Amino acid sequence: MKFEKNILCIGAGYVGGPTMSMIAFKCPQYKVTVVDINQARIDAWNSDVIPIYEPGLDDLVKKTRGRNLFFSTETDKGIREADLIFVSVNTPTKTFGQGAGKAADLQYWEKTARQILANSDSDKIIIEKSTLPVRTAEAMERILNANSKGVHFEVLSNPEFLAEGSAVQDLEAPDRVLVGSRETTEGIAARRTVVDIYANWVPRNRIIESNVWSAELSKLTANAFLAQRISSINSISALCEKTEADVDEVAYAIGTDSRIGPRFLKSSVGFGGSCFQKDILNLVYICHTYGLHEVADYWESVVKINQWQQRRFILNMLGNMFNTVAGKRIALFGFAFKANTGDTRESPALAITRGLLEERADIIITDPQAIPHAKEDLKDVKHGLTFESDPYQAAKGAHAIAVMTEWKLYAELDYQRIFESMQQPAFIFDGRNVLDHRKLFKIGFNVFAIGKMPLKHF
Ligand code: NAD
Ligand code: UDX
Repeated sequence: MKFEKNILCIGAGYVGGPTMSMIAFKCPQYKVTVVDINQARIDAWNSDVIPIYEPGLDDLVKKTRGRNLFFSTETDKGIREADLIFVSVNTPTKTFGQGAGKAADLQYWEKTARQILANSDSDKIIIEKSTLPVRTAEAMERILNANSKGVHFEVLSNPEFLAEGSAVQDLEAPDRVLVGSRETTEGIAARRTVVDIYANWVPRNRIIESNVWSAELSKLTANAFLAQRISSINSISALCEKTEADVDEVAYAIGTDSRIGPRFLKSSVGFGGSCFQKDILNLVYICHTYGLHEVADYWESVVKINQWQQRRFILNMLGNMFNTVAGKRIALFGFAFKANTGDTRESPALAITRGLLEERADIIITDPQAIPHAKEDLKDVKHGLTFESDPYQAAKGAHAIAVMTEWKLYAELDYQRIFESMQQPAFIFDGRNVLDHRKLFKIGFNVFAIGKMPLKHF
């Protein structure tokens, strides 16, 4: 079959896989190929068990794979055949050299640029899908267009706003799609080509066009604003615990103000995920490089509050369990950074586990999807750690339960049965405010939630 366009995506991760599956599903007229250097990941995409857990994704892949969606490790071939190349490689925080701990590590990104250059004999549109520092497109253009083959590359920014756990829904009906380009004749023509892809299913009024720098910076800014809301409500949660105000009531009251809005005001043990912290620190680094130190400090405080909220949770457990958790069995309900994903990157559960292990607690981790990743994250831990898929078994004989992830199933368990199987006095620390605290208190638990007065029997 002859396809209208050949679309390539470099990077078959949490973004590349789902976004390309949706494009392939909505646009049977295009051939979509997703390549990766990780053979195991590509094998998994081609198998019955795809490498990421994401509601609805399995079905999408089954409908498109082999029809117009292909997963492969043949990057060079893919580049040669492509009209458009989305680049969706990882851009983690740099761990070495200048900017370590803040700046984005662009090594994967730059390698991709050089590989595209080496394998291109015709003009191509290159689309930044990864989240990148503002003005990265300029570096990409310089690398790509410094060629003597007469090949022209137009570099666009089309940042991805999907959230894990709801990726398929977010891709199917996005609040907006953002496409940024140079404002030259060629740039605007390339932008139209990308807009036309999304227009196959996204209403035109939800497709925003902008200059390339605005698109790059909008992505970092969106994540910074979302995370800032969580840190803001989490900062207030600490004050609620001192004053008998209830953070969920405060969030509801302020969220009904249409200027504030209700979303991203759920107080928690802290935000996790591969994006928020990384992208804010990247923003902080960029601001410092432009001499905007006050702006950098403002955004860095969002990350600091998040780290403090996690630390506060550990200290709260310790303080309420008679200042020692050494040798006590503590069941962590959930390890994923949020519900409906198996992803554990930057999960607050990781910081809580390590903090409690330092206090010599015995930790038992349960999670419906994230145990394989949790095992990998904690593979250096030799003592005091076990994994258990059944939450009832995890809680058996425990002194305390700490809810780390808002999986729906944790609100639906038989807590009477759990209480009877635990050590007494039994404690619950609800790091997500998802349980029925009064009911638990009536059963006999001592209940500690975020931003609420404790319910204690002593
Ligand atoms: P990921 O680590 O899951 O996937 C990246 C993939 O790129 C990996 O499989 C890796 O092997 C592959 N890769 C690296 N270098 C390569 C190369 N030279 N050639 C081929 N493949 C290569 O990362 P992710 O979560 O999909 O994130 C990708 C980008 O999207 C990041 O910039 C991230 O900030 C951004 N983003 C992520 C999310 C999210 O929810 N995870 C949402 C929006 C944006
Ligand atoms: C985020 C952005 O939402 C998405 O637009 C971007 O493309 C990638 O980064 P993601 O990290 O997948 O998505 O999930 P998100 O729903 O934003 O949650 C991030 C963290 O914040 C999770 O740990 C979540 O539990 C926490 N959170 C979220 C809260 O603690 N309270 C809230 O009100 C919302």
